[in-house]
Order: sequence, then C-alpha cells, then structure tokens
Amino acid sequence: MSEKETIHLAADLSFLHTDFLWRMPGSWAGYPYYSTSDFYEEIAQVAERGKMDMLFFGDTGGTSEDYGGNHEAVVSRGVKWPRHDMTPMIPILARLTESVGYALTMSTTYHHPFHVARIFNALDHVTRGRIAWNAVTSAYKWEAMNWGFDVMMDHGERYRRAQEFLNVTCQLWDSVEKDAPVLDSDSGVFLDPEKVHRIDFKGDYFNVRGPLPALPSPQHRPLIIQAGQSGPGMDLAAKYADLQFSTRRTLKSMKKHRSDIDKKLNSFGRSPRDLGILWSVRVQVAASESEARAKEKRFLESIPPEGGLIEMSQWFGIDFSGAKLNMKLSDFADQVREQEGNLGTFDELLKTTDPDVTVRDFGRDYMSQRILVAEGTPKEIVDKLEKIHYETGANGGFILGRGFHAMDNIKEFVEHVVPELQKRGLSKKDYSGPTLRENFND
Ligand SMILES: Cc1cc2nc3c(=O)[nH]c(=O)nc-3n(C[C@H](O)[C@H](O)[C@H](O)COP(=O)(O)O)c2cc1C
Repeated sequence: MSEKETIHLAADLSFLHTDFLWRMPGSWAGYPYYSTSDFYEEIAQVAERGKMDMLFFGDTGGTSEDYGGNHEAVVSRGVKWPRHDMTPMIPILARLTESVGYALTMSTTYHHPFHVARIFNALDHVTRGRIAWNAVTSAYKWEAMNWGFDVMMDHGERYRRAQEFLNVTCQLWDSVEKDAPVLDSDSGVFLDPEKVHRIDFKGDYFNVRGPLPALPSPQHRPLIIQAGQSGPGMDLAAKYADLQFSTRRTLKSMKKHRSDIDKKLNSFGRSPRDLGILWSVRVQVAASESEARAKEKRFLESIPPEGGLIEMSQWFGIDFSGAKLNMKLSDFADQVREQEGNLGTFDELLKTTDPDVTVRDFGRDYMSQRILVAEGTPKEIVDKLEKIHYETGANGGFILGRGFHAMDNIKEFVEHVVPELQKRGLSKKDYSGPTLRENFND
C-alpha cells in the first residue's frame, strides 16, 4: 500500500497475557491486568517512541475444549484464554498517543456489515484516522457455538459470506461522499443530499438499504487487514485488503506467498503495491547471540511439555493430547482438514517442517518456532529483517508476532532494534501524517 520501501512495524498484542509469556521476567505480571488500561497505555507510548505504525488486537470468542475434551487445559494454563473485548481500550489509547494506529478484529462470519461499517466509522473518528479492521472469517467451532451455531459454517461458505460482507461495508463507507458536509449556517444546509447515497444492496447473505447514517471519517474507510492464508483467504485479501498478515516461516515460502498474492492482485485489477504484507516475526534481542539464546531457553523452560500441543489443539480444532510417541504431523492432516479451521496455516507447517519430526517434538518447538524468529544482536536481527524485506519485494514490513512478551521485550525492540533500522534508513524516523493510512503509505 505504498510506493516506498520503508519497513513498517507493528506489534500483535493479542496474547501478551497468556501462552506462558506471563511467566517471563519483565512480562505484564504486576500490572493490574484489564482492570485498568495502564499496561496497554505504556505499550502504546513505547511503540510511538519507536515510530511503530500499528498495535494489533486479534480476537476470538470461544473457549476451546479440543485438548483432552474439556476446557481444563486452556483455562488452567491460560492458553489464549481469557480474551476480553479490546474495543473500549482503543479510544483510551488513541487519546494518549498521536500517531500510532490501532487494529481491531471483527468477524465477517458472526457480525453484520452494517454494524461493522458503523462502528469502524465511529472508531476512525475518535482515533482521528488511526483505525484498521482485521476482517477475519473465524475458524474455531467453540466460538461458533457461542454465536448460536451447532456446527461451524464451512470454509468455502465463510469466505463467500466474507466477500459479500466486505463488499457491503465498503459500499456503506462510500455512501456518504467526502465533501457531503456543507454546514452552511446561512442557508441551513447541513449535508448535500446529492452526495449521500442509498446502496440498495441485496445479496445472498445481506440486504442493506443504506446510506450509512454517519459523517465521513478521516480515513473514509479503515485500513483493511486480512490474514487468511488459504486460496480463498488470499482472494479476499487481494480484492479488498490494504495489508495482509502472514505467518510464512521460511524465505522460500515467503517469496512464493508474495508472488502468489501479486498474481491475484493483478487479476483483480489492483497492483502489488496496493497490498503490503506484514510478516509475523518473533524478535529476541540481546547484547550477544549467546545471551539471546539464553533468553530463548528461559522462555522455553517456562513452558510445560504439553504447552505446544494444547496451543495446537486450540488452533487446529483437534485433540493432540492422545498423540502417540511416534506420530508425525502428517498423521493428523486429514483430521485437521475435516475441521475446516486454519487450513492455510496447517499446510504451511506441513510444507516447512522436517517430515520425520514427531508431533510431540514439534509441539515443544511450536511455542517458539511457529513463526519466523529473529534473535541475536540488533545488527544480526536487522541483517535478517533487511534481507527478508528486500527479497520479498520490500512491500510492507513486520509484525512482532505471538510469542514475544511485554513489557520488556517490546521495550528492547524499540530501544535496540529500531535505532539500527533507522540508522540504515530502513524504518522511519518520524511519522509522516496524522492518519494510519498516510503512515503506511510513506
Ligand atoms: C497472523 C494471523 C492472525 C489471525 N488473527 C485472527 C484473529 O484475531 N481472529 C480470528 O478469528 N482469526 C484470526 N486468524 C485466522 C484467519 O482470519 C482465518 O480465519 C484463518 O486463517 C483461516 O483461513 P485460511 O484457511 O484462509 O488461513 C488469523 C490468522 C493469521 C494467519
């Protein structure tokens, strides 16, 4: 989404409080978690010091009973649980900061496009143009049951509904033209009715008359993010998204991903530079490589042996608790596919993992290696990020992905890695404008 080759920086704050990260020294423990906004306020200020573009809040609303057939494992270990609605946090953080943006997740499977268009218009106003929408199709059956479905909608249908959903929301945001407000006190004309349009949308899933009864917001539309990695997920991203998250784990697979999405962008009449990719990366910075390794080791030691399998059960919707010693990841492929959940991500794991590794060994690594890892000195980390960035088209940047802890880890990133990126002219030294879209375009 930009002509420039800047490395954009974001951080995924979805799981800082869970997934064993809270056991790390310098993690959030000690802050009054969720009862106040202090923890997130401090992170937002740190991110803004590092001229980071965006803080991201993922969301799912279910309690997984996949591992062992009940919720004991996820609740007693705090694996992606609890998850509070982060919507109210955003206006608080936006008041405290001037430039960093915020991404909020809302499901195209369980919400209604009119509601989503309206709330993101409102959030764009109160953040003064710094909101992004992570449009997810939701891949978890326990969440489906909370929204009144006995069975999760199948993968293909979730994406068909998502296509229509995005179409309606975009039409609603466009239904009031930018220069519709007149506010002429002499004539008494508030808005120009010629510039406010009904949409009269009638589709397979939604009927929406429009217009959106709201003033146009600073960005007009929020930045749209899509994270689906499967074919239909890539189609949705190529048609509507400004940014895509990707969890590809090797340079080879990243390059293929970029070239696949570029072809799809062209086929929808868009250009590769219309869509930036933020590659998920976990960063572990230290004064030397061995110190970084020691930190990594401390993190892994804080995770019980079954930790990765609990997490994988939740993510892929099947029970890994009974995995026999010699079972491989590929032994579970059919079961995972039947679940129709995170298909794209599972396929990526199959492609990028040694086929002889047992699922139990894989589970132990999963907590640290599920996404790309950059560890070492600031120089070593930036060398790696720079290489990946240029070899994948220099079109987007990185999101600190799941498996990093705050407060310390994000502070270290801003204090040690960002200056090295800035020194090499790779990331920005200042924000270019008040809106998230302007900052990502720069
Ligand atoms: C990096 C990343 C972040 C995601 N964040 C969320 C999220 O916050 N909430 C959610 O329900 N799904 C999330 N997803 C799931 C996707 O939106 C999508 O539903 C899922 O990947 C299944 O689609 P696929 O088979 O096309 O990959 C995320 C996926 C990835 C790869």
